[in-house]
Amino acid sequence: MSDAAQQAPYTTDNSGIPVESDEHSLTVGRDGPILLQDHYLIEKMAQFNRERVPERVVHAKGSGAYGFFEVTNDVSQFTKADLFQPGKRTPMLARFSTVAGEQGSPDTWRDPRGFALKFYTELGNYDMVGNNTPVFFVRDPMKFQDFIRSQKRRPDNALRDHDMQWDFWTLSPESAHMVTWLMGDRGIPRTYRHMDGFSSHTYMWVNEGGERFWVKYRFKTDQGIEFYAQEEADRVAGEDADIHRRDLFDAIERGDHPTWTMYVQVMPFEDAADYRFNPFDLTKVWPYGDYPLIEVGRMTLDENPEDWFIHIEQASFEPSNLVPGIGPSPDKMLLGRLFSYPDTHRYRIGPNYTQLPPNRPRSPIASYAKDGPMRYEPARVNAVYAPNSYGGPDADTARFGEPAGWYSAGEMVHEAYASRRDDSDWGQAGTMVREVLDDAARERLASNIAGHLLDGVTRPVLERALAYWRNVDQNLGDTVARTVEAG
Ligand code: HEM
Repeated sequence: MSDAAQQAPYTTDNSGIPVESDEHSLTVGRDGPILLQDHYLIEKMAQFNRERVPERVVHAKGSGAYGFFEVTNDVSQFTKADLFQPGKRTPMLARFSTVAGEQGSPDTWRDPRGFALKFYTELGNYDMVGNNTPVFFVRDPMKFQDFIRSQKRRPDNALRDHDMQWDFWTLSPESAHMVTWLMGDRGIPRTYRHMDGFSSHTYMWVNEGGERFWVKYRFKTDQGIEFYAQEEADRVAGEDADIHRRDLFDAIERGDHPTWTMYVQVMPFEDAADYRFNPFDLTKVWPYGDYPLIEVGRMTLDENPEDWFIHIEQASFEPSNLVPGIGPSPDKMLLGRLFSYPDTHRYRIGPNYTQLPPNRPRSPIASYAKDGPMRYEPARVNAVYAPNSYGGPDADTARFGEPAGWYSAGEMVHEAYASRRDDSDWGQAGTMVREVLDDAARERLASNIAGHLLDGVTRPVLERALAYWRNVDQNLGDTVARTVEAG
């Protein structure tokens, strides 16, 4: 029977039993005390108390929509992943988010934006969990928790604190490239529709012949890049804290479906060994001069979720969802993330989170998983162990046992990536300031940095911050210093 056929023409409780009143509890006489046998009242209060799942520890505020991905170019020489084969169209879900704020925080706070995609492929779900920036603040998962704590609220007064943020950044020079993105125009997109998305990490692609390639993804917005200047964003934060959520929903509702064109940079497998910097370092981009963008396809978002909580809040993206033809790279951050996301989903939503509508694959499942709280799909096989002689599935090693790995050898150490010729933490940030930004964008960058520093950053952190920007670019550092001293 369909859900619609089950809809009763009168209010029921959650068990389908007709309720006697929507408005009045059961009392002894009209003015008397409430009775415990008012099951419906108890159910309403109890359900309400459990309405929230914990919010995401990061990227708590998000919005999303369903859509599809269409391949527009032939990249089958690089990957056999079914969603990237010529002519293919794959259904998908996207969730965009801010990072450090909570569920209720304004959409126009300066922050990176999450760009999480789930593709329902023929061989399971492929998740691309990226940001609107090609790089990140740190390059080792050991520092991620410390970084996030420095950006969120202090333990004593529960306030966010710029001093704490700059303390961490200036003690972590690898953050310079990302902080340059964050303090520039890309730090406050105009809407979710007007920003690009990046895998940030390097991934491995494997083609039908077993050849391996290193790739980075970029999703270019077809709506064009637009941003808010700081003062405008501050005003909008007060006027409409949910402006990005509203914009995405309204655009899709009126049939103005946003699209992004996906490109990849492809590095031959062997180049990685002696490229001038470590190509897996998440704080660096690969210059387009070395590895140009190759078009892959287009993603379109054309369907709003019918229930935001079910489809967006309970959506669970995980970088470990990699399908045949796509594998991880030796990026230490990515390897850390492969563990972190499924772990947080088990905690935030529950161990059977993959059975919920946004997370359920649309391809066949034959897993040996069973039981656990809130499980409602029956075990797929009666023999719940492998090997078995009762017709349970067998892993198809001949078909799926691809060489999705890389070579590694050495002592076990707690150390940074081995150094290479062109490793500087400041270099790419400086190039961006001098060669990518125009004069007006450089002025806004300097003014945004100075404004941020003037909001509660104390010496000696302030001195370190000025030195940090002089390392990125002497002129930029001098301009920031002058503005701060004058302010
Ligand atoms: C969300 C951990 C780095 C993009 C999350 C969540 C955790 C997490 C625990 C919450 C997930 C949830 O509750 O559903 C980590 C760790 C990292 C890391 C341990 C580094 C070691 C990154 C990087 C990116 C990124 C480098 C982007 C390139 C995202 C996005 C979300 C997210 C987009 C929100 C996903 C959604 O919309 O549900 N991260 N993260 N994270 N992270 Fe990370």
